[in-house]
Amino acid sequence: MTVLIVGGGGREHAIAYAVSKSAKADKIYCVPGNAGIAGIAECVDIQVMDFEEIARFAKKVKADLVIVGPDDPLAAGIVDVLQGYGLKVFGPDGKAAILEGSKAFSKDLMKKYNIPTAKYEVFDNADKAMAYLETVSYPVVLKADGLALGKGVLICETQEAARDGVKQIMMDKKFGIAGNRMVIEEYMTGREVSVLTFCDGKTIKVMSSAQDHKRAGDGDTGLNTGGMGTFSPSPFYTAKIDEYCKKNIYKPTVDAMTDEGRPFKGVIFFGLMLTEDGPKVLEFNARFGDPEAQVVLPRMKNDIIDVMLACVDGTLGKIKLEFEDNAAVCVMLASQGYPGKYERGFLISGLEQFKGKDDYYVFHSGTKKTGKGIVTNGGRVLGVTAKGNDLKDARRKAYEACEWIDFDNKYMRHDIGKAIDEA
Ligand code: AMP
Ligand code: GLY
Repeated sequence: MTVLIVGGGGREHAIAYAVSKSAKADKIYCVPGNAGIAGIAECVDIQVMDFEEIARFAKKVKADLVIVGPDDPLAAGIVDVLQGYGLKVFGPDGKAAILEGSKAFSKDLMKKYNIPTAKYEVFDNADKAMAYLETVSYPVVLKADGLALGKGVLICETQEAARDGVKQIMMDKKFGIAGNRMVIEEYMTGREVSVLTFCDGKTIKVMSSAQDHKRAGDGDTGLNTGGMGTFSPSPFYTAKIDEYCKKNIYKPTVDAMTDEGRPFKGVIFFGLMLTEDGPKVLEFNARFGDPEAQVVLPRMKNDIIDVMLACVDGTLGKIKLEFEDNAAVCVMLASQGYPGKYERGFLISGLEQFKGKDDYYVFHSGTKKTGKGIVTNGGRVLGVTAKGNDLKDARRKAYEACEWIDFDNKYMRHDIGKAIDEA
């Protein structure tokens, strides 16, 4: 088969790696890809929002399956466009991708179908939002309705801070049109878990759990990022919690989307908070998480093409999803300054150390091939992942491998997986 992957980050590198292990994949293309993906796929310089060009290219190379990685093209309806060209595509269509694309939609869906989540109200008017702030308890959480590069969430300790937040989102349009509407919701406490699932519109199958580290600094300090590291599985996500979530969250979500005339095919990523009152949904994403994919996919035993085709064809019920009985840890190597200002273009050394070593992976997020070698080209640069017998073993190996890599302004957190010690 010929497979085309859309995207160019660590998530797409992890997907490309899984596809490359499939006996069914004869040829893999990636648009636009990156310097790491280029080691296993032919990368072609087409941007992810250029749907017509991607469709023409997929037709030209006779792609049997197109896999869409990132949220922006999904929310903007790339799947509908590609399907219009008669292509087989893994990922939700625009109608279903709204599950991530609009927080107001997802909150209203959860309310209507009794799916546990934080209490909330939706506003499309700043005055009404300001008035509501008089009535809530603090801290309170403000969310821009639309996609905002994972940055549209503000946790406000005081009413003054919340008023300023409403102003930033709705009046100053800090997150652009994503802030035409907003959600104000109750602040929850507990452990966060990322649960990725495959869906075919009727059936939902759960992958091994993971935990992300969103803040830039050690001890969960500093600004929110796309994710500084992950581990899988989460020791806090017990079999009992899994059973509860399947019954009260996962299946009801898939069924709700179908009932709404928006059958979901692809990956639903449930961001959960394990509260004292049980697991509740923080957010839905309509795609693999990054760096969650970098610890979950290397542990998956199934042929990913079989699973993805089953999602597209509606036969997921026949698939037995299986994961290795081990653990993985991913540490992001970032550019000093991320998620704020940072420099690019520094030469990366040590990548060859990963060759031929089972259990060690280096997934590229922001890299570029140049005449002098592979250089840094983003805030998040490389995801260094290791598998081990258990979480502690995987963490030791991941941090060992982080030392193999060097580049100017290299930055990482040193406490990825520290929570493991409390389990
Ligand atoms: P989201 O983009 O919705 O995942 O939000 C980003 C991060 O904000 C989450 O991973 C949580 O750490 C935090 N967050 C979002 N909603 C809430 C909430 N209702 N209570 C507490 N923290 C939240
Ligand atoms: N790591 C969180 C996300 O992919 O949204």
